Amino acid sequence: MARIVVVSNRVSLPSRDRDAQAGGLAVALRGFLKRGEGIWFGWSGRTVAKGEETLHRVDHAGVTYITTDLSRSDYQEYYNGFANRMMWPILHYRLDLAEFSSRDLAGYIRVNELFADGIHQFLRPDDVIWVHDYHLLPLAKALRERGHQNKIGFFLHVPFPPPELLTALPKHERTILSLCHYDLVGFQTDGDADNFERYLTNECLMPSRNRRTFIAGTRTMRIGVFPVGVETVEFERLARRTARLAFAREVLASLGDRRMIIGVDRLDYSKGIGLRVRAFDQFLADYPRWRGGVTYLQITPRSRSEIREYANMERQIDESVGRVNGRYGEAAWTPIRYVNRPYSRSTLAGLYRSAHAALVTPLRDGMNLVAKEYVAAQDAEDPGVLILSRFAGAACEFQAALLVNPNDPEAVAAAIDQALSMPIEERRARHRQMINVLAENDIKFWGSRFIGALTAPSDGAYRPWQASA
Ligand code: ADP
Ligand code: F6P
Repeated sequence: MARIVVVSNRVSLPSRDRDAQAGGLAVALRGFLKRGEGIWFGWSGRTVAKGEETLHRVDHAGVTYITTDLSRSDYQEYYNGFANRMMWPILHYRLDLAEFSSRDLAGYIRVNELFADGIHQFLRPDDVIWVHDYHLLPLAKALRERGHQNKIGFFLHVPFPPPELLTALPKHERTILSLCHYDLVGFQTDGDADNFERYLTNECLMPSRNRRTFIAGTRTMRIGVFPVGVETVEFERLARRTARLAFAREVLASLGDRRMIIGVDRLDYSKGIGLRVRAFDQFLADYPRWRGGVTYLQITPRSRSEIREYANMERQIDESVGRVNGRYGEAAWTPIRYVNRPYSRSTLAGLYRSAHAALVTPLRDGMNLVAKEYVAAQDAEDPGVLILSRFAGAACEFQAALLVNPNDPEAVAAAIDQALSMPIEERRARHRQMINVLAENDIKFWGSRFIGALTAPSDGAYRPWQASA
């Protein structure tokens, strides 16, 4: 079997605290690579002075981790700059937050070249390369320019917006169109894949064989939909075990006989945490019988704090949590418990299982693994209720969740009331539908479907392809 080389900006290195690293990509790839041998290449997480970037290698449980440091300016321009101040907001439909700088774009291209140089050193001709997420759109092009004709696939973990929005990205051909150097480009949902197809057809006038196969020079580039999953069986087992352990019992005991609602998100504006707090405020106002009877636990590790929008949002959420607690709280009851720290997977699993409902209300999300983890963690006999944003990719598979518009605090408040009042038969029926999806499409299935599609025979040797746009 061919060696798989996984490439992503964020690498979950084996360490004592890796189990508490937030971020869907790292969690998903960790699950995928448990299947056997492979290489995981990416950023070491360290910044160093220019010229002192080193490659590091760690071998652990069949996986070789090769990582590179970044110089401080590369980190600033590529990660904090182009990837997270330009690409992230645009891909999440937030043009108002996007900040373009040619310097950041140059840094982004430069780091992709640096990654390609790093990979070039160990690549074998029959390796299958799987690149992940918006940090690395131009990587295949850089590898092709170094002569590599390997199968190279790309998977986007985040949403792909309609072309009308995407073309607001200055010089979008340099980044988005470079995806055509991959053999297979995978998305979370049909809507994302359709948006990419429309971009290629209408904006770039790219010839296609059908809506999912495009002709890029003498090569073909295929588009596919591969909704990412979780480690369904293992996660349920973990949740069952830890819900019985001291920590989960202590949390439950501290709630008395109150219901618990849980939210778990990186501190990111795409997650809609501020609006969620407002919806909980609305819920306490509209349904006063629940006052004193329910506690909302929001677990939110800080993320990308060096970026201004993130720092501002952090302050705003702190303030709105304080306002709700001040308005409704009592000496013996705090309506919202707000925690800014990571937890181990087992602790999270136990907390999910103990919660009567989960609030997963991103304004826009590629998939949202928290929604899937929450469902996987439930006791099938007495499951909690998932309140899910219709704008999360997970909503395509989870029609049995209580689907809400996160921009409508009254609707979310009504869904909270419905979740907490839902009869057990309905809870079981909804859970059954969702767990069936998760049982089939777990993380291993996701990985093997993608690699299977990538390595399936297709035609043509590589000849450099140039965008006509
Ligand atoms: P994103 O990739 O945008 O962060 P996802 O919901 O897809 O969003 O994935 C988040 C992942 O990070 C999940 O696997 C979740 O369990 C994990 N996570 C989120 N918050 C925490 C936390 N406080 N501690 C540990 N892991 C967390
Ligand atoms: O899943 C989306 C994602 O952006 C991943 O690419 C990333 O690893 C994760 O969220 C966390 O973000 P960061 O790597 O910037 O901490």
